[in-house]
Amino acid sequence: MKVAVIGAAGGIGQALALLLKNRLPAGTDLALYDIAPVTPGVAADLSHIPTPVSIKGYAGEDPTPALEGADVVLISAGVARKPGMDRADLFNVNAGIVKSIAEKVAATCPTACVGVITNPVNTTVPIFAEEMKKAGVYDKRKLFGVTTLDVIRAETFVAELKGKDPSNIRVPVIGGHSGVTILPLLSQVEGVSFSEEEAKSLTYRIQNAGTEVVEAKAGGGSATLSMGQAACRFGLALVKALQGSEEVIEYAYVDGGSEHAPFFAQPVKLGQNGVEEVLPYGKLSAYEQKELADMLPTLNKDIQTGVDFAK
Ligand SMILES: NC(=O)c1ccc[n+]([C@@H]2O[C@H](COP(=O)([O-])OP(=O)(O)OC[C@H]3O[C@@H](n4cnc5c(N)ncnc54)[C@H](O)[C@@H]3O)[C@@H](O)[C@H]2O)c1
Repeated sequence: MKVAVIGAAGGIGQALALLLKNRLPAGTDLALYDIAPVTPGVAADLSHIPTPVSIKGYAGEDPTPALEGADVVLISAGVARKPGMDRADLFNVNAGIVKSIAEKVAATCPTACVGVITNPVNTTVPIFAEEMKKAGVYDKRKLFGVTTLDVIRAETFVAELKGKDPSNIRVPVIGGHSGVTILPLLSQVEGVSFSEEEAKSLTYRIQNAGTEVVEAKAGGGSATLSMGQAACRFGLALVKALQGSEEVIEYAYVDGGSEHAPFFAQPVKLGQNGVEEVLPYGKLSAYEQKELADMLPTLNKDIQTGVDFAK
């Protein structure tokens, strides 16, 4: 099994690489790539951690050596938000970066499972899909927008509010990955209930949690450490599923035939070919139904922006 991290010298990339070096199964190869010249040094640094995961770092213009033979590719290459920006403001720079990486993935490891972290995820994932289609190698079962950070934030905030152990809380989060398109299904959290007011303010907090971090970092970037943890959880789930484990279920933004939008975050059962089955997300409360209906124009517009860009 080979896992490649693209954008590996960045805030997310380094945190993710550290976690993967410690947590990937024995015998996995970990490849780090970034345009930043420090990348082989990041790999050298991590290589001194005594775990049975081999690691190599590559810098420069061409990600091909890192992508060769990759089974899982996690992409966090791009620019991050500063205060006052929303994820859509990143589009101009990050769209081009994701497009060029997709071309390289299509040419080098077209059958890999790809997790896109680079924002705006609502739009960068459709761009990636369009590029794979152009190359004739698109397999919708193998492309994921990584929305796991929304899930872990929701789990943390619910546990905090209700005085529970966060490791026992599961919160479904559906839709997309920015602002109102992030829809936590609080009505489905087992063992707790929320007043209407609590549900509204918690939903707002989960939707805007990224901005909480952007503002707290005061110009120093957006979430990197919690995102590293989230991407590690998602990457390990992919590896587990590819290696044949059963019952690997995660939430991700996928091209899964949703009635709502061409790409939609929902629970997926992962298997040896990526998405094995898109699972239903259960019954929504009246409040969640309204939030869902209200967000769909935004989500669909974000997706169309990506499709138009790729064309
Ligand atoms: N999906 C999520 O939940 C989520 C959460 C937080 C941040 N993000 C996004 O992840 C991205 C990265 O965030 P960060 O904080 O790590 O940023 P960062 O600036 O710390 O790191 C980005 C890295 O990408 C590299 N890079 C730029 N162009 C590249 C290219 N063409 N090929 C390879 N590497 C390239 C840079 O050299 C840098 O090391 C941003 O777009 C950010 O908005 C997503």
